[in-house]
Amino acid sequence: MNNFIQNLPKAELHLHIEGTLEPELMFKLAHKNDVILPYKTIQEVRDAYNFSSLQSFLDLYYAGASVLIEESDFFELTWAYLQKCKEQTILHVEIFFDPQTHTKRGIAFETVLKGIVKALQKGKKELGISSFLIMCFLRHLSEEEAFKTLQESLAFKHHIIGVGLDSSEVGHPPSKFERVFKMARQEGYKVVAHAGEEGDNSYIWEAIKLLHVNRIDHGIRCDEDATLVDFLVQKQIPLTVCPLSNVKLKAVLNMPKHNILSLLKQGVLVTVNSDDPAYFGGYLNENYAALKEHLNASKKELTTLAKNSFQASFLSENEKQHYLSLF
Ligand code: HPA
Ligand code: ZN
Repeated sequence: MNNFIQNLPKAELHLHIEGTLEPELMFKLAHKNDVILPYKTIQEVRDAYNFSSLQSFLDLYYAGASVLIEESDFFELTWAYLQKCKEQTILHVEIFFDPQTHTKRGIAFETVLKGIVKALQKGKKELGISSFLIMCFLRHLSEEEAFKTLQESLAFKHHIIGVGLDSSEVGHPPSKFERVFKMARQEGYKVVAHAGEEGDNSYIWEAIKLLHVNRIDHGIRCDEDATLVDFLVQKQIPLTVCPLSNVKLKAVLNMPKHNILSLLKQGVLVTVNSDDPAYFGGYLNENYAALKEHLNASKKELTTLAKNSFQASFLSENEKQHYLSLF
């Protein structure tokens, strides 16, 4: 079965590049860039990966991101992830990056973007992995800040397929970003938003009705509202679900209680993703394996989930058909 998962062609649609920062690289870059971390050893960092909530994770995630300074750091981070993709038969990726996390620390938008893009280009050329980049706004910051970041991104529009919304969900509903998402759509960006991870289903409704998202990131709390589930099925709005993340951040009590297969059976276009694999104890294949181990997912269900990952992507219809023909 593990071989089956290993060989399954997969796309990853919910992956924060800053969340692929393994402690080894975190320490290496901290040393190079003279950044003082609140941890003395790699083991201390790993021990801290015991989160009680989304916020407790975000505190560590932003502390870790502070070691990323130079363009080459963003390149190295992204390149390491792409090599992981190669190992795991991930053929296509749509990667989130959080420019505000870095520009707030005085790092230029261009430095961040160029490092990531150079790695993605090398990944295409040398590893055959296709990729898109999605720029996230931090929802705990103001809409004004998001507007500034959107403006800044326009010079690099050809490298960015869409915008998203991440960070601390509760208290920062999608409605706060209605105007900036409208402008992003007018600029031709695809739009996605984290919703229904810790926030209730009203966040998912808002993301759909006010932000007009193409996909919902997480969305697992949709099952609190049968009308919403029907709507997601009818419109085939994809959910990018991250099983290990949901358990780690206590959005779900434990893996046997995860609703991803139940949503799949109801006809929701669900996909499997790793979110922040360095922090949550597993890359994409480990997420698929958890569904097999704890939810008894069949080969047929795992195959449908993998096909969904291409179906829900921002690839063209032709490209989707190419990947789907591999099954
Ligand atoms: N949720 C919200 N914001 C994030 C996450 C997440 O899972 N990962 C990185 N930023
Ligand atoms: Zn996420």
